[in-house]
Formats: sequence, structure tokens, C-alpha cells
Amino acid sequence: MRVTIKIKRFNPEKDSEPHWREYQVEAEPTDRLLDALNYIKWNIDGTLTYRRSCAHGVCGSDAMLINRRNGLACKLLLKNLGSTITVEALRGLPLLKDLLVDMEGFFAKYRAVKPFLMADSPEPEKERLQSPEEREVFDDTTKCILCAACNTSCPSFWSNEDYVGPAAIVQAHRFIFDSRDEGHEERLAVLNERDGVWRCRTIFNCVEACPRDINITRAIGEVKRTLAFRRL
Ligand code: SF4
Ligand code: F3S
Ligand code: FES
Repeated sequence: MRVTIKIKRFNPEKDSEPHWREYQVEAEPTDRLLDALNYIKWNIDGTLTYRRSCAHGVCGSDAMLINRRNGLACKLLLKNLGSTITVEALRGLPLLKDLLVDMEGFFAKYRAVKPFLMADSPEPEKERLQSPEEREVFDDTTKCILCAACNTSCPSFWSNEDYVGPAAIVQAHRFIFDSRDEGHEERLAVLNERDGVWRCRTIFNCVEACPRDINITRAIGEVKRTLAFRRL
């Protein structure tokens, strides 16, 4: 099949603002959009800039705006994207070049919720055990690959870039509800701040954008409920 890929390009050294460029690509219907971007970079214009690594939906590095919806370029098949495909950088994060955005602010929020197991109680002889039922409570939020598709589709984040955002809440949820963790008060305190979890207005864009099908809004609701009951 022949597809037209329209990419919003931006070179900070030459351009005052982003502009569209079109590329014609011969491809198999079962090729992924990432294959087409690689073809363009390797055969037509080597200056095209974007992140990618695993090419299998695991590393989270190639989230972008595809046909005006956030998605991973390595997971979307060309046959499902139409004969003309538009590709832009994620919205709401500083644009560095072409499809590349600055993720530092995103990862600063991730670090703020202390995304690691904290346990100060004396170590057991072997390991900190957990039942399958206890593991199930946070199973969904372990699937996050930190792609930022959720944050950058969230109107609350667009209107307030200090909002901690759904990705960090998902990461906090993974540890707050882990039966082995003893640091949830610290995480909940961060999420209870002015720009924490209460900035979420339950708009659901994040759920639609998540390539891992995480029920983000449910996770956010569980964190809100936990905070609300603590205050009683
Ligand atoms: Fe990406 Fe989903 Fe994690 Fe958000 S919750 S960063 S959309 S994987
Ligand atoms: Fe934003 Fe998702 Fe809440 S889109 S407002 S984080 S439900
Ligand atoms: Fe790793 Fe797409 S390249 S998720």
C-alpha cells in the first residue's frame, strides 16, 4: 500500500514555528507507523527526529499524536490509520525538535511520588510475602510504561502544567496499594497537595489515550477515596 505521512516538523535552529511536511511511503499494511517513520528517516530525510527504542510497546518512548490521538507509533498498524496519516509531537510538553518533546518535567513528577518500595520494618528471614489477592489490588497500575500519553491528553494538565498528572498518580497507586509498602503516607501527602490528585476533574481522556489500557480514572478515584477517608 502507498501512504502519505504528514509530519509536523520543527527545527529550533531554523524554524520560528512548526510546519507540515508530506512523505510518500510504500509499505505493507501490517507495517507499524514506526516502520514508516524509520523508512523516512533512513531513506528520505535523516534529520527527522523522534524517540524509539524497543519497537514493541514496552519502553514507552515513541508516544506521539497520531491522527490527532495519542498513541505509540510502534503499536499502530498502517492499515488501521488510513491512506493519509498525520503525526505530531505530544501536546503540553516543551517541543525540542520534530516529534521530540522534553520529558524532564514529566519525570520530575514521577520522581516526586517516590516510585519505589519503602519498608523500614525489620526484614523477614526470607522475603516480604504477598498473597495473589493482595497483588491483584494494584495489578493494573503495574502496567504503566511512562509514555506520557495520558498527561498530554489531559485538559487539567493543559490548563495547569504543575498538575502532578495521571501518570504519576498511576505510579503512586502501584506502591500505595502494595501490601508490602510502608511509605504510602509520604506519597499520599504529595498527592494531597494543591497540584496533586484533586486537580483531576474525571475527564477520562487519559483512559482513552493509555496504550496499556490502564483504568487510570479508577486508580485516581481509589487514591482520592483513600485521601478522603484519611481526613475523617
Ligand atoms: Fe502511558 Fe498509560 Fe502509563 Fe500514562 S498510565 S504513562 S498513558 S502507560
Ligand atoms: Fe485528566 Fe484523566 Fe483526570 S484526563 S482530568 S487525569 S480523568
Ligand atoms: Fe518502545 Fe514504542 S518504541 S514503546
